[in-house]
Amino acid sequence: MDVMKEITRRAKIIDGQVMSYLQGGDDKKLMMAVRHYPVAGGKRLRPMMAKVIAQAVGDAEDKAVPFACALEIIHNFTLVHDDVMDNDSMRRGRPAVHVLFDMPTAIIAGDALFARAFEIITDSEVPPEHINRLVKITAHTVWLIAEGQQDDMDFENMPVESVSIDDYLAMIYKKTAVLFECAAEGGALIGGGTEEQITRMKDYARLMGMGFQVWDDILALTGDEKTLGKPVGNDIRNGKRTLIVLHALSAMDKADPKRAKLLKTLGNEKASPQEIGEAIQILHDCGSIDHARKTAADYAARAKDQLECLPPSVERAFLSGVIDFAVGRKV
Ligand code: IPE
Ligand code: IPE
Ligand code: MG
Ligand code: MG
Repeated sequence: MDVMKEITRRAKIIDGQVMSYLQGGDDKKLMMAVRHYPVAGGKRLRPMMAKVIAQAVGDAEDKAVPFACALEIIHNFTLVHDDVMDNDSMRRGRPAVHVLFDMPTAIIAGDALFARAFEIITDSEVPPEHINRLVKITAHTVWLIAEGQQDDMDFENMPVESVSIDDYLAMIYKKTAVLFECAAEGGALIGGGTEEQITRMKDYARLMGMGFQVWDDILALTGDEKTLGKPVGNDIRNGKRTLIVLHALSAMDKADPKRAKLLKTLGNEKASPQEIGEAIQILHDCGSIDHARKTAADYAARAKDQLECLPPSVERAFLSGVIDFAVGRKV
């Protein structure tokens, strides 16, 4: 199977399904802001995961469409607010919502997307007790994302020694992996999977999501801004405590002048492109980028192991291919 082709094919279908849920509305400006990221595409990995898992466990891909779209819409809501928090001005190759419109509109558009997602979930053609569980796990997921995002922001201003790699892992679990987990749990539930299958699919999604975010942090330093469609280097300016940075700080001798140099640039909003380039070079020199690559690959391998609970199928093969894409992607 050509996994890339299949991802593209599936993403296109999801594009149309998501947009069909973002029609109407009385306020033109708000609707433009609401649709700004969804219409720009994106990888659609979360809805894809929900649909493919529903298909893999119970031939129920179509039934999973509303839930899948709701998760993509929640994801887009978090992106709108994330770009405000991270002060990033570009996303999916377009100006960020708060830049193109304004800050209040970005806040409201995020809220509106969040609300619409729950309306959509209640449209799912599944038994009422399943709707109940879908709403509950999704709401709890957004709560955890909020906690993860708060940690991510708080870490920026904490003394470097006080944020550990375990703190980072707990933070990315909340801000990123939980939404993948939710996609897997909901998809498996809609497909009528056993509790054992639901648990294993959640494990698959969690491990993939962890690898996905570690890889995202690598791309945020080493990626190509045009391909990525979002800024490169801002994690350093913002003082993000990524695995890469934490590894470098612990690997370097306290007296190493490079360590002082890295710390000087980390969190310096006004750092020049040259200073950012030098900081990234230090991270390379410490082996921290390679270490993060290995960590992401390790999560990917563990995610793959979870797929053994599914009978062999094209869906299982695809879910395996999605892992390789997620932790090897350039976009
Ligand atoms: C970006 O997610 C936010 C993270 C959790 C890293 P994606 O990389 O899935 O973004 P899109 O949806 O493809 O634009
Ligand atoms: C992604 O955070 C998590 C959420 C949006 C909830 P990041 O800030 O790391 O993601 P990008 O790099 O802006 O996409
Ligand atoms: Mg961000
Ligand atoms: Mg962020």
